[in-house]
Amino acid sequence: MPTVTFIKQKKQVEVPEGSNLRQEALKNGIEMHAGIHQYANCFGNGLCASCRVNVKKGMENVRRKTWWEYILFALNPIWPFARIGHEEEMTLACQSKIMGDCEVETTPDMNWHGEKFWG
Ligand code: FES
Repeated sequence: MPTVTFIKQKKQVEVPEGSNLRQEALKNGIEMHAGIHQYANCFGNGLCASCRVNVKKGMENVRRKTWWEYILFALNPIWPFARIGHEEEMTLACQSKIMGDCEVETTPDMNWHGEKFWG
């Protein structure tokens, strides 16, 4: 079974292959939403972008619904801004399946302008 390491919580969890990242995190007491989004989120339907995580290691083991992420660009303006500077590592936990070991950072800080956006 794949192991997911939640970096901020310093917790490792074994999950079934092909399982949903958000569901497994919540089952194991990992908070996936920051602030008001703990109560106001889309409950895993891929609409609110508040379950975003940065996959620090093992992105090749995370199967993402990238086509849905492109649609979300048009539906939710938070998503494109949140991704700035993290395009290669950010994914929506509710739209991601775990296929192997990985390390994720939950509730990453919002990066409104990126490292070099203004300079
Ligand atoms: S819970 Fe809303 S996008 Fe994942």
